[in-house]
Amino acid sequence: MKQEEKMTAEVIAVFPDKVRISVDSIEDFTIAEENLRVGSYLRIADNDNAVMIAVIENFTIEVANSSEEEPKRKYILEANPLGIIRDGKFERGGDTLAIPPKKVEPAKMEEIQKIFEESLSEEKKFAFAKLSTNRSISVPVDGDRFFNKHIAIVGSTGSGKSHTVAKIIQNAVRGKIGEYEGLNNSHVVIFDIHSEYRAAFPDAKFIDITNLKLPYWLLNSDELQELFIDTEANDHNQRNVFKEAVVKSKKDHFDGAEGQKEKIHFDSPLMFEIREVLQFARDKDTERVPSATAGKDKAGPLNGQLTNFVSRFENKLSDRRLDFLLGNEARDMTFEEVLKSLIGYGDDKSNVTIIDLSGVPFDVLSITVSLISRILFEYGYYYKRLRIDENQDVNEINDVPLLLVYEEAHKYVPNNDAAKYRASRESIERIAKEGRKYGVTLMLASQRPSEISETIFSQCNNFLALRLTNPADQNYVKRLLPDTMGNLIDRMPTLRAGESLLIGDAVVLPSVVQVDMCDPTPASTDIPYWQLWQEQWHNLDIDKIKKIWGRQ
Ligand SMILES: Nc1ncnc2c1ncn2[C@@H]1O[C@H](COP(=O)(O)OP(=O)(O)OP(=O)(O)O)[C@@H](O)[C@H]1O
Ligand SMILES: [Mg+2]
Repeated sequence: MKQEEKMTAEVIAVFPDKVRISVDSIEDFTIAEENLRVGSYLRIADNDNAVMIAVIENFTIEVANSSEEEPKRKYILEANPLGIIRDGKFERGGDTLAIPPKKVEPAKMEEIQKIFEESLSEEKKFAFAKLSTNRSISVPVDGDRFFNKHIAIVGSTGSGKSHTVAKIIQNAVRGKIGEYEGLNNSHVVIFDIHSEYRAAFPDAKFIDITNLKLPYWLLNSDELQELFIDTEANDHNQRNVFKEAVVKSKKDHFDGAEGQKEKIHFDSPLMFEIREVLQFARDKDTERVPSATAGKDKAGPLNGQLTNFVSRFENKLSDRRLDFLLGNEARDMTFEEVLKSLIGYGDDKSNVTIIDLSGVPFDVLSITVSLISRILFEYGYYYKRLRIDENQDVNEINDVPLLLVYEEAHKYVPNNDAAKYRASRESIERIAKEGRKYGVTLMLASQRPSEISETIFSQCNNFLALRLTNPADQNYVKRLLPDTMGNLIDRMPTLRAGESLLIGDAVVLPSVVQVDMCDPTPASTDIPYWQLWQEQWHNLDIDKIKKIWGRQ
């Protein structure tokens, strides 16, 4: 008997976003060697030679009451249409199938493979994962589209985010068109909060608190105020004195044209002396002015008003942990040196720059991330201007585009207005909104997507959603993802390590994939407690710990 005559499966309902299929005998329906599961593909043909590819969303069993001895079981599959194969070519979208569809069967793996292989031209293909239901099928994305728009990688702790980030970047760094010696032209900056990534990128330029140098005078006025002014106190005197002193010092150190000097303001990106600003505040705090009584003087208008401000200021300047920002070496860095060090254009060229933030004191983490992000964004902005001025091909606005990777993104760009995150949130939100125009893309990894600024998350076009168990996070992600995945998103809590939904405009078919294992791996945070505890007592060098802690 021919299979068609047996009618093991039949489409019983067609909705714009869903097809319902009734299957009599699941054994006959399944193709040899392929297990049918949620996430498997079906092919549904109509009379016009079009074949719809749909992905199974859910599966139910109906037990029909019948007069026969054994109740009859029917299997109901609901599938989500992904696209149509017409004349051998796959197109996204599934609303063009003639009704009623004629035949439904599991898609053959060769057919799926062909879709992945043929939908993208060879030079666009960027692959880092295999199909979860069949690990022999590589699932490439359109590499240009993937990196051109912001990318979100979400998943609970241990779901595989760090490994996924590492794998994607390792493949990006290894890709080459043609044959040449040396580095390719990829440029990635990783903000690493847990010191994980050095192990995965041994050739990367590594910057941590011991060699990070960021001149305080590159901070903008908001960041400067966040650092030096007690924002809780909301003290206008502090602000005014600080601003006046910064502008004065910028003018005093300016050696450009005289006419330009008048235009210098609080935000002018110019060197100034932070110690002069402190002295200015001290002077105001102790100032005495002539009094009406001849020969006598009296307390100046701010005398004694700035004592707390001055002592806070002094504490910052003497805090060795802030030397990377406020020390003399940081002050003397030129802008070019800072930029070169951040994008791997120093003496040792590198594709990947790892900025290890683990030693940066928590109270300056936000402005540190903000400053670096802003410099990198502005690099994109001014580089584009330069290229346009020089009449370069304006279609290619930046031939040295950057990818900025934020691990634990909810820590820099939270979904709330807390003052202590304002600086980093503003800088990163600006990149989220405008970065694409200047060749600066974000990759955000987070275990708490619901705590990430929505402004940023909603600008992401490609998503890797790994296992996510917290319902608040699941709902948040669901809401922001394109609908095409339907109930597939409900699989989020059950995914294995490294297994992920791959969704977005760079993706040929929204798919459940297994991300390829990276090599080398990021430093695992799994500490073998039980092994360590069973060893003989370890000695601790408390003195060394004290030094790195920055305690006197
Ligand atoms: N693609 C993969 N294939 C197989 N195993 C993986 C894969 N990715 C991760 N794993 C395993 O899962 C574990 C956790 O991975 P990873 O450290 O990347 O998780 P994470 O999501 O970054 O966690 P955290 O939020 O705690 O940082 C690793 O020990 C690794 O062995
Ligand atoms: Mg991680």
